[in-house]
Amino acid sequence: MTGVTATATAAAGTDASYQAVFDAAVAADERIEPRDWMPEEYRSSLVRQMAQHAHSEIIGMQPEANWITRAPSLRRKAILMAKVQDEAGHGLYLYSAAETLGTGRDELLDKLHSGRQKYSSIFNYPTLTWADVGAIGWLVDGAAITNQVPLCRCSYGPYARAMVRICKEESFHQRQGYELLLALSQGTPDQHAMAQDAVNRWWWPSLMMFGPPDDESAHSAQSMTWKIKRHSNDELRQRFVDIAVGQAEGLGLTLPDPELRWNEERGHHDFGPIDWTEFWEVLKGNGPCNEQRITQRRRAHEEGAWVREAAASYATKHQTQRSRSQSQSQSQSQHANGEATA
Ligand code: 3HC
Repeated sequence: MTGVTATATAAAGTDASYQAVFDAAVAADERIEPRDWMPEEYRSSLVRQMAQHAHSEIIGMQPEANWITRAPSLRRKAILMAKVQDEAGHGLYLYSAAETLGTGRDELLDKLHSGRQKYSSIFNYPTLTWADVGAIGWLVDGAAITNQVPLCRCSYGPYARAMVRICKEESFHQRQGYELLLALSQGTPDQHAMAQDAVNRWWWPSLMMFGPPDDESAHSAQSMTWKIKRHSNDELRQRFVDIAVGQAEGLGLTLPDPELRWNEERGHHDFGPIDWTEFWEVLKGNGPCNEQRITQRRRAHEEGAWVREAAASYATKHQTQRSRSQSQSQSQSQHANGEATA
């Protein structure tokens, strides 16, 4: 919060007046910052969303990392490695942003590993062919951008600022996926068929990434009032479908939905029903790769224990050295002052 509202925060004396200052800041489209007063439900809902987002970024490294060693050229390998590393970075920005709300990364990772927090449903599907790397870039990162660009205007400052850089990188991810699929689509008949098969498998799970329909979305209404979310799940899903149709034409590929057609009256594409039973099953842990993803994540965490320990002991060593040299220079200056006054 800035200016008038910051002053008002200092002057406010009761929860009701704090709440009024918070509400006014959200209404005026100001950013809420870590030290500002905020309702506990706002804080916990943000931690919930940001944690799930961070978990999605790091779990999302797995399906594509599966193809790094089998990329068909050095150029493709370099692009894919850069993309997977970007996802790790996105996780770090988001865990750091969640830390500003008082929830440490250890606690969040513990919740992920014990199944108490979710990650995106999309990463519970397998990457069967090289074309899946293209389909993930085009559709999954494309869906992520559609959902995440509005988060750059999220009312919580650290989350909004983290999203600016993330969206720039996601944009590169989407472009590389499109370009990869275009090369396959324009390649041999087998390559074209492989690209089409990947799009057929990733299309419906990509639509599920936007979350349940609005009338079943537990958090949307409140999150939109708080301006954490700017659009509902269905609005963003529709926006994505409208963009993807033209892009599929450009690729020379089709989308696997016989009911997909332009609706002049609505000014949008109509599309067929989504299998919400599949979505909820994946969320419950019954997707094709849930078990594999979480097992691999826990293993990576355990295998990384020595890095965390080394970093912690390095930090302690330097902290001790700093405190020692501070107290030495203090005693030297006291000594010098004593000599000067003597
Ligand atoms: N996968 C897993 N869980 C999902 C989900 C999905 N696709 N969609 C919704 N859910 C969960 C919600 O988290 C919530 O569970 P909870 O009560 O335990 O928190 C429940 O289903 C009900 O859904 P709501 O619609 O009420 O939840 P939200 O209002 O939070 O909306 C959301 C869901 C649209 C995913 C929103 O949280 C959001 O925009 N999050 C930030 C973006 C994000 O997390 N993206 C992950 C995508 S992957 C990614 O970014 C990596 C990139 O590299 C591709």
